[in-house]
Amino acid sequence: MSVPIEPHDQRFPVLDPAVLQRARGMLATSASIVAFSGAGLSAESGVPTFRDAATSGLWTRYDPARLASPEGFAADPDLVLAWYADRRRAVARATPNAAHRALAARPDIALVTQNVDDLLERAGCDPTRVVHLHGRIDRDRCHGSCGHEEPIDPAVIVAELRRCPRCGALLRPAVVWFGEALPPEAWERAVAAMHSADTVIVIGTSGAVWPAAGLVDLARSAGAGIVVVNPDADPDDNKDHADIVLRGRAGEVLPALLSGP
Ligand code: APR
Repeated sequence: MSVPIEPHDQRFPVLDPAVLQRARGMLATSASIVAFSGAGLSAESGVPTFRDAATSGLWTRYDPARLASPEGFAADPDLVLAWYADRRRAVARATPNAAHRALAARPDIALVTQNVDDLLERAGCDPTRVVHLHGRIDRDRCHGSCGHEEPIDPAVIVAELRRCPRCGALLRPAVVWFGEALPPEAWERAVAAMHSADTVIVIGTSGAVWPAAGLVDLARSAGAGIVVVNPDADPDDNKDHADIVLRGRAGEVLPALLSGP
């Protein structure tokens, strides 16, 4: 499948063709490739990062921890649900970008993401292929212990406190909040993918949020090559441990990196 390449935006570095060729060479000899992504993958789709959204407009007067923690939900569930209704509308308005489409065109690549949006799935990735380490914003789950989870209707996003149809506890967005553990199944799948990877492409993540960021170290210790895709010259510790750094935006770099010969 051919994926259209978007025109270069002058505000960002021009991709070095020699470095791109080296990265393509590394992928060509890799039997097992993992794409590990963060907020930068969805930046060109207009999804504001958690921190950007929490520190702009209406929400500046709230501590982000109050908007996304079990304690915040217990103290003021209406406020937390209003915040998530806002986030859900932003995700519903966004559309997949060229980076999501480039990954969708390569079903051989395992996908591990920190993003709670569903843009990889909407770009055409098989949902069973995408590991969402931090959960999904387009779903609700039981805040009790029964494990019930259900999709929300993106056409009707309301900030309404609802009860679990199975056990009667409150429902809450199916995302990981501050202080919560990652979903065990997602974590186990991510660790297994990193262990068996020949190359991990680290896309648009600062490497600052743990334990997710530790997956890159895990893959490298297990022998994987690391390719970082980030327009920022200093994407935290990922860059120092990378074999190849492709400085550029995901929407420009991934189609060039992942397209056929
Ligand atoms: N293409 C690639 N990378 C980009 C782009 C782009 N177009 N735009 C920005 N970036 C890079 C930034 O340079 C930065 O390194 O994306 C990274 C985004 O970093 P963070 O905002 O810290 O996002 P992330 O690493 O995903 O960590 C935040 O914590 O709040 C939780 O679950 C939430 O997944 C989220 C995580």
